[in-house]
Amino acid sequence: MMVRVPAVLSPDQVAHCVDVLSRTQWVDGKVTAGAQSAQVKNNLQIPENAPAARELGEIILRALGTNEIFTSAALPLRVFPPLFNRYDEGMTFGTHIDNSIRFATGTPVRFRTDLSATLFLSPPESYDGGELVVEDTFGEIAVKLDAGDMVLYPGTSRHHVRAITRGSRWASFFWIQSMVREDSRRAILYDLDNAIRSLRARDGDCAEAVQLTGVYHNLVRQWAEA
Ligand code: NI
Repeated sequence: MMVRVPAVLSPDQVAHCVDVLSRTQWVDGKVTAGAQSAQVKNNLQIPENAPAARELGEIILRALGTNEIFTSAALPLRVFPPLFNRYDEGMTFGTHIDNSIRFATGTPVRFRTDLSATLFLSPPESYDGGELVVEDTFGEIAVKLDAGDMVLYPGTSRHHVRAITRGSRWASFFWIQSMVREDSRRAILYDLDNAIRSLRARDGDCAEAVQLTGVYHNLVRQWAEA
């Protein structure tokens, strides 16, 4: 399941992120790559332990904490501290799969990367190329969103970032360990949650809405590790 989460950050928050990042030292992106992905990765990053990454990461985590679409789609157990990357003209990230297990920076906390997230910080009209491309059995899905919008996609997917041919693409990226490990189950719960929301909006807390809410929670109880 791929989900677009619109307006995770407000235009003011995006502007603040870009301002802080523009005054921060960028390093080679290979620092967080595994052995295979390091060979195809050509971008820049803010070091994981940089104060700027911590400060901006907190802003993003606070915003996600109250975001209903994110919560419903990801059912997060742990959210990896957000990282920041940048692709200038000619930079790219070839096909790879994200590491399955990661340690949060400087801590013994281990994450399973059930979902990957990219939060776009550059307006799409400010650069050419730079689409995040998720490869699936039926083809490729290319994603390029407004600044402040985020895409959630399965950590199990092969993906790449197309080369930048003009401008510069800045983004935050991170991973989520979900309470519900399997993408197919999260997709069912997300669908059911959306149907219940629509039903309640139309008919209020009718008997069917109460019954379906019960079904939702009983499925979560069966499938979730909390
Ligand atoms: Ni990746």
